[in-house]
Amino acid sequence: MSPRSDSAIAIAEIDPKREFPFSDADFRNLAEYAYQHTGIALSESKRDLVYNRLSRRLRALGLRTFREYHEFLEGPQGGGEKERFINSVSTNHTRFFREAHHFTHFRTSVAANFARAHGASGRGRMRVWSAGCSTGEEPYTIAMVLKKEIPGIARHDVRMLATDIDTEVLSKGARGEYSASALQEIPAEFHADIERKGDRQLGKLQMGEALRSLITFRQLNLMQSWPVKGPFDAIFCRNVMIYFDAPTKKSLVERFTKLIRPGGWLYIGHSESLIGAHPGLELVGRTIYRREP
Ligand SMILES: C[S@@+](CC[C@H](N)C(=O)[O-])C[C@H]1O[C@@H](n2cnc3c(N)ncnc32)[C@H](O)[C@@H]1O
Repeated sequence: MSPRSDSAIAIAEIDPKREFPFSDADFRNLAEYAYQHTGIALSESKRDLVYNRLSRRLRALGLRTFREYHEFLEGPQGGGEKERFINSVSTNHTRFFREAHHFTHFRTSVAANFARAHGASGRGRMRVWSAGCSTGEEPYTIAMVLKKEIPGIARHDVRMLATDIDTEVLSKGARGEYSASALQEIPAEFHADIERKGDRQLGKLQMGEALRSLITFRQLNLMQSWPVKGPFDAIFCRNVMIYFDAPTKKSLVERFTKLIRPGGWLYIGHSESLIGAHPGLELVGRTIYRREP
């Protein structure tokens, strides 16, 4: 952040376009709070986003300045507000079949292999974790692929954990209801497990029970301890670590690696390939890593 003179700060504080004064110190304090509690590093480019999203909270709480808001957040009554703060600053953009080559790989190397190995016996176990699942499009995409490739999937012990820090996106994921236009993102071969309600454009999509029953949505902050049991056959943590700094990312990848079974897979977002050595992980495709067998 470049140093600014007092007069520049004063101008920012009384910017007539803004309803609330928002100084460098206000932004820095809130960015620091976000980093400590979520690992999200809010860069200067997120300043307007932070202002716009948190202004709503100031209005709702009847506060007049961001300084008051920060004090409230850090104060004895700020516990409940922490969740709303996190929901406000997290970026939840996602879609079905995003970065589609991951699902092609997952289909052939994980789901189809599983079906071949366990098809007849019906006793296979598989665990998949979508870490930073947002509104659920990622775990439902994984569920569609699993359901398609594994005949009689309900006979097996196949389960998926979908977690996020943001409670609002998790409720949406658990409902499994999306706008009808999202159907365009989903290849036709997977439409059978999705119900269509109402108009083609303005109506809704409801993920079917066969998909929903595979997924458990839970709140989990990746910066804290993880009450999850491995080992996982695959972990998807995509477009989440992009908001974290390098040491945080490195430590997360080490923790994921320990939870992946030998020979299992880690999928990360396209713009967040891992730099440096990651013991135990081998890069096998674009942003696809395998835990050494
Ligand atoms: C851009 S979305 C990615 C969604 C999906 N994985 C995808 O690639 O389409 C990033 C998600 O990470 C979540 N997130 C950010 N910090 C987190 C943390 N510390 N613990 C858990 N989830 C976090 C956000 O709430 C958000 O829903």
